[in-house]
Amino acid sequence: MPIYQATTSAPVNIACIKYWGKRDTKLILPTNSSLSVTLDQDHLRATTTSRADPSFEKDTLWLNGKEEVIADGGRLATCIREMKYLRSQLEQQKPDAPKLSTFPVHICSFNNFPTAAGLASSAAGFAALVASLAALYELPATPSELSRIARQGSGSACRSLFGGFVAWEMGSAPDGSDSLAIEIAPREHWPDIHALICVVSDDKKGTSSTSGMQRTVETSPLLQHRIGTVVPARMKAISDAIRARDFDTFASLTMQDSNQFHAVCLDTDPPIFYMNDVSRAIIAVITEYNRIALETTGKRKAAYTYDAGPNAVIYTPKENVREIVELIVRYFPQAEKFKDPFSLFGVAGVGEG
Ligand code: PMV
Repeated sequence: MPIYQATTSAPVNIACIKYWGKRDTKLILPTNSSLSVTLDQDHLRATTTSRADPSFEKDTLWLNGKEEVIADGGRLATCIREMKYLRSQLEQQKPDAPKLSTFPVHICSFNNFPTAAGLASSAAGFAALVASLAALYELPATPSELSRIARQGSGSACRSLFGGFVAWEMGSAPDGSDSLAIEIAPREHWPDIHALICVVSDDKKGTSSTSGMQRTVETSPLLQHRIGTVVPARMKAISDAIRARDFDTFASLTMQDSNQFHAVCLDTDPPIFYMNDVSRAIIAVITEYNRIALETTGKRKAAYTYDAGPNAVIYTPKENVREIVELIVRYFPQAEKFKDPFSLFGVAGVGEG
């Protein structure tokens, strides 16, 4: 009996224009489009192996060595079911192909970074899951087609199927068929941009993105202004800035959007706080750093952004990385007690293969 098995890995992506709010919670359709950078380095990845075998009793998944429940109708079950459906279509076209769609699968996934600490672990996880099943099933699907399925695992996962600069277009079809990730620019387009990850805390976050989003959609008046007016204009402006490699505009929009996302969380009832005092102190350092840069050169040198957790991601052209690391270590001397540099911050080459 041949072995049917495939392993793939997918990296984390960090949004510059944030996804926050669902218009359909089952299909995971967002209330606004979003845009992210896929961090192309080894330290923030999910690696997933899938194996199909008729002797397996049922579909089973282990995350970091621990078995996860695959609840009926839940997100994991949906992604596995959709991928088996695509395989069954392929089997109909190719009658000689083994009937893998009828075999249970065993899936084993590892994250090499803290899970659920606002470092987009679910994005990398679901992207790797879908990509490994696509490889196992030898599906001819494009990354955009696979993004439609990964989206139903975790919204932001759809963007991790591409490297480089990626938009998730919210779409308008009620069945979600046009709510997909597309590439804005490949990694090679702007290899100079780096991401510095400052792990302020690797504790699990207090309010999950699912429950936080739901509360925001139900209670925040600011969200309506954001999704109706602000985000559509920003999506266009930041895509243009990426195409033109205009870091100053990219940085300005990224920081404004992070700030508005956290403002929307504060506008939620009861409010949600994802940043802490250290996060805010890092904002102050980057703001001052940019103020001096604006005074001397007229352009910003760095952009901070925060997801649903206290950890900072700082985008900057490569030439500034050392200077910013030195600044952070000077203002946060506790940084030095971390033995593994990646437990405090890592430099992610965006655009380095
Ligand atoms: O895909 P989720 O449910 O993990 O939500 C991600 C939400 C943010 O990370 C805060 C923003 C984003 O666009 O990634």
